[in-house]
Amino acid sequence: MNLMGRQVQVRSYPQGPVRREHFEVVDVPIDPVGPGEVLVRNTWTSVDPGLRLRLREAAPEGYFVAFPLHAAMDGIMTIGEVVESRAEGFKVGDVVWHALGWRDYAVVDASAVQLSGLGTLRTLDISIAEPQWYLGALGGMGLTAYAGLWVVGALKGGETVWVSAAAGAVGSLAVQIAKLHGNRVVASAGSEDKVRWLLDDLQVDAAFSYRSAEVRTGLKAAAPEGIDVYFDCVGGDHLEAALDGMRRGGRVAICGSISEYESEPAGPRNLFLAVAKDLTIRGFRGSSNLDLLDTMQTELGTALADGRLRQRETVFDGLTSAPDALIEVIAGRTTGKTLVHITDAR
Ligand SMILES: NC(=O)c1ccc[n+]([C@@H]2O[C@H](COP(=O)([O-])OP(=O)(O)OC[C@H]3O[C@@H](n4cnc5c(N)ncnc54)[C@H](OP(=O)(O)O)[C@@H]3O)[C@@H](O)[C@H]2O)c1
Repeated sequence: MNLMGRQVQVRSYPQGPVRREHFEVVDVPIDPVGPGEVLVRNTWTSVDPGLRLRLREAAPEGYFVAFPLHAAMDGIMTIGEVVESRAEGFKVGDVVWHALGWRDYAVVDASAVQLSGLGTLRTLDISIAEPQWYLGALGGMGLTAYAGLWVVGALKGGETVWVSAAAGAVGSLAVQIAKLHGNRVVASAGSEDKVRWLLDDLQVDAAFSYRSAEVRTGLKAAAPEGIDVYFDCVGGDHLEAALDGMRRGGRVAICGSISEYESEPAGPRNLFLAVAKDLTIRGFRGSSNLDLLDTMQTELGTALADGRLRQRETVFDGLTSAPDALIEVIAGRTTGKTLVHITDAR
């Protein structure tokens, strides 16, 4: 049988904001399944701001590699169902995750290490969770929030924690984890609707929209006594405001710098405050903390099951909507984890 599938490919690299015309959806023949491989029909695929950093000739040094033009976009977390298997330990019907996303069918080498190991083919327990939760709270998003807070933020409880882009995939988990562990949590986001959701549903202690007031002003009003931990998803003016607001001995967990993904870096210009206040500032990758995956899944899985943790999704329907989903997530028009539900696989 000659199976055909569809892939979203990069047609050209954006110079400014990413647009639909930078992508094309291409019909491709699916390779026969070789020894040690499985054929997966993808059902859910992830949409992450970090993909924007790979839409260029060279991605930032040390990061995941750039997407080549006119080729499959490898290295995007995806959920699917095994439809053919020649790999030990995987059988037809298994629900798996792997990293060959933004396509409807993928032939996956079960032994290939993908996305630093996070995206290596793995069977998922869907008796305890919806499959797509493994792209959110029980996957890379959960791991990033968990590792950033515990390993870098060195959570202690009883402190003040600020999370930026707090209504997004990672941020909405970070605020809840920090809250569950007895901290005062301040959240910021880009709209009053998101602020309401953070206050009413996620029960953060204070929240502000950086679009309604200058970030420093919003932070000062939300945390007049200062902050001990800053979970940074934004960089630029947010990081600068955090340095101003940090208390002595504070920790800054740099998770991402989305304010710079489509424009020039903008600071911080007040780094000396790290010296003055004995701060620890550290970047980190969720995928560099794979040793925490099982613990994170157990802890967050339990909290999801008993309702202490909420996972919200913005779902785009059909593979061809993936570029739109990326545009929307960067523009801040999504809430929670942004996903594409591949309902249209042939
Ligand atoms: N270190 C890691 O391993 C790792 C893993 C996953 C993600 N990340 C990073 O974590 C951050 C969040 O990722 P995510 O997947 O959870 O995405 P997300 O938060 O669901 O979506 C990104 C959000 O960033 C906000 N944003 C966009 N431009 C902004 C700007 N100029 N200033 C302030 N906020 C802006 C938007 O929300 P608003 O409405 O609030 O503006 C948007 O919804 C990103 O920086 C990402 O690269 C890092």
